[in-house]
Amino acid sequence: MLIDCKKIAQMIDAQSLSLLQKSSVRPKLVSLAVKPDQSTVSYLKSQQKKAQSLGIDYEMINVEDALSLEESLQKASKDESVHGLFVSHPLPPEIDEMKIANLIEADKDVEGRNPLNLGRLVYGIEDFAPCTAAAIVRILTSVTDLTGKNVVVIGRSTTVGLPVSIMLLRRDRSATVTVCHSRTTNIPEMTRKADVTIVAVGKAGFLTSEMVRDGSIVIDVGINVVDGKVLGDADKSIQEKAQVTPVPGGVGVVTTSILMNRVVRNAVRGGMN
Ligand SMILES: NC(=O)c1ccc[n+]([C@@H]2O[C@H](COP(=O)([O-])OP(=O)(O)OC[C@H]3O[C@@H](n4cnc5c(N)ncnc54)[C@H](OP(=O)(O)O)[C@@H]3O)[C@@H](O)[C@H]2O)c1
Repeated sequence: MLIDCKKIAQMIDAQSLSLLQKSSVRPKLVSLAVKPDQSTVSYLKSQQKKAQSLGIDYEMINVEDALSLEESLQKASKDESVHGLFVSHPLPPEIDEMKIANLIEADKDVEGRNPLNLGRLVYGIEDFAPCTAAAIVRILTSVTDLTGKNVVVIGRSTTVGLPVSIMLLRRDRSATVTVCHSRTTNIPEMTRKADVTIVAVGKAGFLTSEMVRDGSIVIDVGINVVDGKVLGDADKSIQEKAQVTPVPGGVGVVTTSILMNRVVRNAVRGGMN
């Protein structure tokens, strides 16, 4: 069975529109990318489309190197008409990711990359949580009560696996979380016992039907382009035994709606609190 993520995204968009109707402010998001490839450009275009549909001004800045990225970030950080900053990832290997994350002003860090905002997660403050992790939590809490649930997270990236694990442990959710990665030896053994499996590995069809329990929940974060098709990390056959988020049209659409909602909240309230 598929989880209706578009419906969740629509609810978030409706909240954004309602906030905007009560305000005269015009929110603005600046998205920056370094030497973007075709798939990044197409992702940024879908971001632009969503922003426009909500009445958010959108500026896409494509640069060639680290210095131009730093300069553009500093300029946009100081610009009072800008309410959100997004930097497309992965960055080219020659660019210092941590340096860039520190240049994204914490108050405009709608995607949740600044180390200050990642640190706040440990204290349970999630206004600035990484958007994809926030989307996963939003989807999960809309379909289940997580208290005491056995959740297996596959992947430990700063963008997805690590922050979502911290968020699921928060006392008002109180899941029991196991985090797996490329050195974990017995992943199927763990996923077969899981109430919820979150797979964020970046390998098409990594999670197979034999690895999941009947009636469990699977959050498929993966986005893999194979022969021109977008595929998740979970094999399609899992839909027959578990509730699963679709790819495309799953975690990604909720993530974009959350990103835009943060830009709106930041603009309307003059700060993300
Ligand atoms: N839908 C969305 O909004 C959204 C947002 C972000 C990312 N994504 C997608 O989600 C996927 C993951 O993204 P990411 O940024 O988290 O990727 P990442 O930084 O490359 O991290 C991948 C993680 O998977 C683990 N891994 C790799 N091979 C494994 C294996 N054979 N067994 C177990 N674990 C393995 C890695 O382990 P090690 O740490 O040991 O290397 C790592 O922790 C990608 O497909 C990406 O495109 C989607």
